[in-house]
Amino acid sequence: MSQPADALSIPSWYRDATADSRMTPGHDPVWRQMIAHIPEQDLAAATVLDYGCGQGGLLRLLHALRPFRAGLGVDVARDAVARAEALSAGLPLAFDTPSALAGQPARFDLALSHEVIYLLPDLEAHAAEIRAALRRGGVYYAVTGCHTGNPMWPRWRALVAEITHTTPQDFSLDDFHEAFAAAGFEVSARQFRFEGFVPLKPGAWTKTVEEALRYVTETKTMFRFRLPR
Ligand SMILES: C[S@@+](CC[C@H](N)C(=O)[O-])C[C@H]1O[C@@H](n2cnc3c(N)ncnc32)[C@H](O)[C@@H]1O
Repeated sequence: MSQPADALSIPSWYRDATADSRMTPGHDPVWRQMIAHIPEQDLAAATVLDYGCGQGGLLRLLHALRPFRAGLGVDVARDAVARAEALSAGLPLAFDTPSALAGQPARFDLALSHEVIYLLPDLEAHAAEIRAALRRGGVYYAVTGCHTGNPMWPRWRALVAEITHTTPQDFSLDDFHEAFAAAGFEVSARQFRFEGFVPLKPGAWTKTVEEALRYVTETKTMFRFRLPR
C-alpha cells in the first residue's frame, strides 16, 4: 500500500470507525444484485477496479461468483484499505488509495463503484480517471441512489454529512450522465430493482416499508459507462 498521499484521505468513512465493517453484511445482498445485473459473465481474463471499495467486500464477492484475473480496490479511507488487504489474503486483489491510479497505463476491463460517485467533488475528474484506467471497450458500472431526484435526499444528505468523514455533493442523475458522455463514454442506465424480496431494515435511511421498496425500484440507479473500442 502506498502512503496516503490523497488530499482527501480520511481514516474511515463513518466517524464511528467500527461502522465501516457493518457495511459488508449490510451491502452483501445489494452487491449480489449488482453482480447479477452485469451482463459480462466470463471474467476469467479480466482485470477489475472497484472505486471506493471500502473493506473490499464487493471485489471478494465478485471473485467468488465470477472469478477474474486480478483486481484493485481504491478508497480514501486508509483503515478500510488496510482491512481490505487483511481480509483478502491469498486472493489476486490489491488495495490502495485512489492516487495509485495516477500515471498508470489503461489496464482494467471492468470498473465498479457502489454508492461512491455522489461523494466525489469533481465528476469530470472522476470520468477522466476512469477513462484513463479502462482499456478500450471497457465498462464502468456505477450504482447510486444518492442524487437530487431521491425524495429522501435532503434527509440523507444531512445524515451523510453528520455521520461520515465525507461531504456529499448534490448531483442529479443527469449530472452523472453528462460528465461521462462528455468524457467519451456511451452511457446507459437502469433502475436497480431487486429480484425477489427486498431485505427490510427500517432505520435512519428508509423509515417505512414503502420508502424501502420505492428506493430500490425507482430511485437507486445503475449506470453503464462504456468506452468505445
Ligand atoms: C457508502 S460507502 C460504500 C463502500 C463500498 N463501495 C460498499 O459498497 O460497501 C462510500 C465509500 O466511498 C469512499 N469514498 C468517499 N470519497 C471517496 C473518494 N473521493 N475517492 C475514493 N473513495 C471515496 C468512502 O471512504 C467509502 O468507503
